[in-house]
Amino acid sequence: MGKILEVENLEQRFDLNKGILDKLKFKNGKFIKEERIVNAVNNISFSIDKGKVFSLVGESGCGKSTTARTIIKLLEPKGGNIKFDGVDITNLTREEMLKYRKRIQMIFQDPYASLNPRQKIIDILIEPILFHKIADSNEEARERALEILEKVGIRPEQGERYPHQFSGGQRQRVGIARALAVEPEFIIADEPVSALDVSIQAQILNLLMDLKDEYNFSYLLIAHNLSVVKHISDDLGVMYLGKIVEKGSKEQIFHSPLHPYTKLLFSVVPKLSGSNLKNSKNIEGEIPSAINLPLGCYFHERCPYAKSVCREEMPLEKEVEDGHFVLCHQY
Ligand SMILES: Nc1ncnc2c1ncn2[C@@H]1O[C@H](COP(=O)(O)OP(=O)(O)O)[C@@H](O)[C@H]1O
Ligand SMILES: [Mg+2]
Repeated sequence: MGKILEVENLEQRFDLNKGILDKLKFKNGKFIKEERIVNAVNNISFSIDKGKVFSLVGESGCGKSTTARTIIKLLEPKGGNIKFDGVDITNLTREEMLKYRKRIQMIFQDPYASLNPRQKIIDILIEPILFHKIADSNEEARERALEILEKVGIRPEQGERYPHQFSGGQRQRVGIARALAVEPEFIIADEPVSALDVSIQAQILNLLMDLKDEYNFSYLLIAHNLSVVKHISDDLGVMYLGKIVEKGSKEQIFHSPLHPYTKLLFSVVPKLSGSNLKNSKNIEGEIPSAINLPLGCYFHERCPYAKSVCREEMPLEKEVEDGHFVLCHQY
């Protein structure tokens, strides 16, 4: 079958120290140097089989978007490596990445922010089609754009409208159409339904599923909520403070979750149907800062099972059953 994406020991950091003076803090009567580095992605590994959906799940701020932006090299990786369709793309230059920009497309949480408000919907699609030479002429590009709009449920005459004339759900359909327009093989969807009404979320997820069946894409789907990824995923990774704390098949994660954090995420899953949303609990405990990572297991401060070893040592990844990995001292 082969892998579309292989990520190995990926690391990403943001240096918040703008200048040397920012680093100096006055403490106990003297200046000390204080590094302020956000450790957004801390040595993660996962791979995605061709034609499959891998979902990355975790609370806001755990490093999901940073992982996505690093994979498409909007950010240079600080460590580790990335292979796309068997080719190491870790150190490719911007120019060398261009051909991958066509093969890898992104769908964003807020399509409004990524759609040019002054461009008609049809032109938003025509532009990348011409840029990536999917069509030879303007007419051909327009034809293709209309075809894709139809696929995502937007009528031809609606193509003459501007983004602000659409609802959130329709705008996300446009975002999806734009990704589709250049015939990608791999789609990274970063919280594609988080900004939408619950009633619309299922429609958009179904659309993503249908398109996958038709085109046989591979997906990296990002969500902060397990219920969103339940139907669409083949495999999942659960992320906490820049680490993947558990990964495995959908069946493994949903039927026998291992990590205390995964279990915590399940305890707050709101139901997509019905009005249970109000009843869903909030996850207890603060997420520690990615600037001052805790010693030991990053989760120990919120973990009901934490032992002394958890406060001192980062657990090693263990394969508990075939393909089911966990990062926890309990196992
Ligand atoms: N450009 C940036 N500069 C500094 N810190 C950033 C930047 N982008 C993200 N971060 C920080 O990195 C961490 C991970 O963020 P992000 O990847 O956006 O999380 P998620 O997508 O899971 O909500 C957070 O602590 C966030 O504040
Ligand atoms: Mg994000």
